Amino acid sequence: MAYPLVRHRRLRSTAGLRNLVRETMISVNDFIAPIFVTEGTGIKDEIASMPGVYHWSLDTLEQELSEIVGLGIQSILLFGVPDHKDATGTSAFDDNGIVQRAARKIKALYPELVIVADTCLCQFTDHGHCGVVHTSDCGAEIGNDESLELLAKAAVSQAKAGADIIAPSNMMDGFVTAIRQALDDAGFANTPIMSYAVKYSSAYYGPFREAAHSTPQFGDRKTYQMDPANAREALREAQSDVDEGADFLMVKPGLAYLDIVRMLRDRYSLPIVIYNVSAEYSMVKAAAMQGWIDERAIVLETLTGMKRAGADLIITYHAKDAARWLKENE
Ligand code: PBG
Ligand code: ZN
Repeated sequence: MAYPLVRHRRLRSTAGLRNLVRETMISVNDFIAPIFVTEGTGIKDEIASMPGVYHWSLDTLEQELSEIVGLGIQSILLFGVPDHKDATGTSAFDDNGIVQRAARKIKALYPELVIVADTCLCQFTDHGHCGVVHTSDCGAEIGNDESLELLAKAAVSQAKAGADIIAPSNMMDGFVTAIRQALDDAGFANTPIMSYAVKYSSAYYGPFREAAHSTPQFGDRKTYQMDPANAREALREAQSDVDEGADFLMVKPGLAYLDIVRMLRDRYSLPIVIYNVSAEYSMVKAAAMQGWIDERAIVLETLTGMKRAGADLIITYHAKDAARWLKENE
């Protein structure tokens, strides 16, 4: 008697067979590695809540870049921590700001490395919000349209400094249109926009805000970042960015939002980017340091899951480790 007739285990019985039928592959080409650059000299400071991630000053940055390039990673996401903050975040659009100087330096050292510049005001404003603040009798609110002008200036300044891709993370309405127009007017019609299209108001950004010194000084980001409970609204956010000319669509955070990645993958043909954010990283690191999990296996499984969900590109603090492990697996 032949029972059962269907034997799924046939294709799992050897490593060779498993390799033949594997559906999803992750590669170093999928990774974008975030980098935090800061003012000062001689700085390589580990971020307490993100073991293995550092603040770099411009003079020490080459160490990190050479490691990234040596591992075959082709793209970085650049964050700047300025030493000057004010109400409108002027150092975000200063041609001599930390991000701009870092971009020029990186281009000079590694012209091929694709620099993605995060475009937001929160690291640069003294109140830590992603736009400019209006105070009135009804309290404080984040002004949309006046923020757009400043964000557009920041994007142009980043492109002039050598940023290859502009990645606006501010969640103001109309930011793709405003930035696209400003880039085109300044002669950067070929600079793509990687839109943080679907960005949720998330507790998973906690360690990042410590790293970027960008915790809001009052209130929260719920009037501009999305409610984690909403999926249909993600489609509206994505659609408007597509209509406005975005070149990539990002979903952020990653793990708790894989359904959103799948939705966008099924509906849009643009490259889909997932951001495996700071607390997702820190939780894995913390458990690994306790010896509670197998870090390598967990990370590779997570990244594979993100691709399987439909992401083409993964922004991840695990990029260097993952690149190393993939090389060892070859
Ligand atoms: C800035 C920005 C944030 C992140 C990326 N760009 C923080 C925020 O919106 O509060 C989060 C990244 C992470 O947690 O790894 N707007
Ligand atoms: Zn911001």
